[in-house]
Amino acid sequence: MSGALASPMTGEMFELMAEWDGIGVIVRHDAPTGTWIFIALHDDTLGRPVGGCRMKVYERPEDALVDALRLAKGMTSKWAAIDFPFGGGKSVLAIPHELEGAERTGLLHRFGALLNTLNGTYGTGEDMGTTPEDMLTIAQVTSNVMGVEPGSTAAIDPGPYTALGVFESIRSVLRHTVGSDDMTGKRILIQGIGRVGDPLARTISAAGGQVLLSDVDASRVAALAEELGGAVVPAEAVYSTDCDVFAPCAIGAILSEDTIPLLECRGVAGSANNQLRDDDDADLLHGRGILYAPDYMANGGGAMAFGLIFQGVTEDEALKSRVSTIGASLDEIFEESASESISPLVSASRRVERILMAARMPTA
Ligand code: PHE
Repeated sequence: MSGALASPMTGEMFELMAEWDGIGVIVRHDAPTGTWIFIALHDDTLGRPVGGCRMKVYERPEDALVDALRLAKGMTSKWAAIDFPFGGGKSVLAIPHELEGAERTGLLHRFGALLNTLNGTYGTGEDMGTTPEDMLTIAQVTSNVMGVEPGSTAAIDPGPYTALGVFESIRSVLRHTVGSDDMTGKRILIQGIGRVGDPLARTISAAGGQVLLSDVDASRVAALAEELGGAVVPAEAVYSTDCDVFAPCAIGAILSEDTIPLLECRGVAGSANNQLRDDDDADLLHGRGILYAPDYMANGGGAMAFGLIFQGVTEDEALKSRVSTIGASLDEIFEESASESISPLVSASRRVERILMAARMPTA
């Protein structure tokens, strides 16, 4: 596998970049660790591209590039949907195997130095596979990191803010399906109990909801289920288990023509980026009467918190109350979707387009 990752750029990579509708991609091969670094810059209409840094072992570097391109585009929509002055960008560190200690620090420092050469063109932050500690490491060499105050020894974990936004999104889905957002007795199935899924499960449980939990880490999921009085759902049953709301909080592209026919839920709202394999899958969900909260709206809480902190808002209560407005934004999307018989994704992308168009209009 590391042999495949070390292979030179293939025709497929060039094609992927040429066909992309974004600004461009910065590609670097980090020889000491055998890592491919991709920084995908999608759009800078609203501001400089800012988005998290994903660290993951991929089968092929092409897969990592595809991830970077899709994730960067998602960030354009996310910032526009929450109306913050940042553009779409994302970075992927395609590691050959899990990196620890000095190897990991070395890679993160070189990644930070690469950001410095970009003179602030791209700002990074935490994403799947990276931690707040990793962000501190990057911040030792560059200021282009969200969530780390200059000179600070702690990085902000966006996970709990993302979880709060997803919680409010689930309540919005409940309002528009069962007619009440009272969590009592509601069955919420969470796929992935990581940095977002875990705090989400705790919030739902504290509000009286019943959590059904699924995760690749069997002992972790068993422990959390026991602590919260929830149930464990085996991976092979995650799509077909009856529940009120399904919350994908792990990997992307899990909603597709293969899984949507299996779903036994009223709605979907989760934190994973790029939940749909294709945009058309939103129509499949709509056709089945399953209310889908567009991922980039439901999971915008972490980005929102980072954006607010960047703007100088520091009080936790202020951050939380702003993140909670995601629920009301989704209400508008669901109402437009119902009155115009369009999928919520179409309605959300209209919102994104409206914001981008207004920003492109020359001011008098
Ligand atoms: N990676 C998270 C997301 O996709 C949080 C994040 C937001 C990180 C914005 C950096 C910048 O929303």
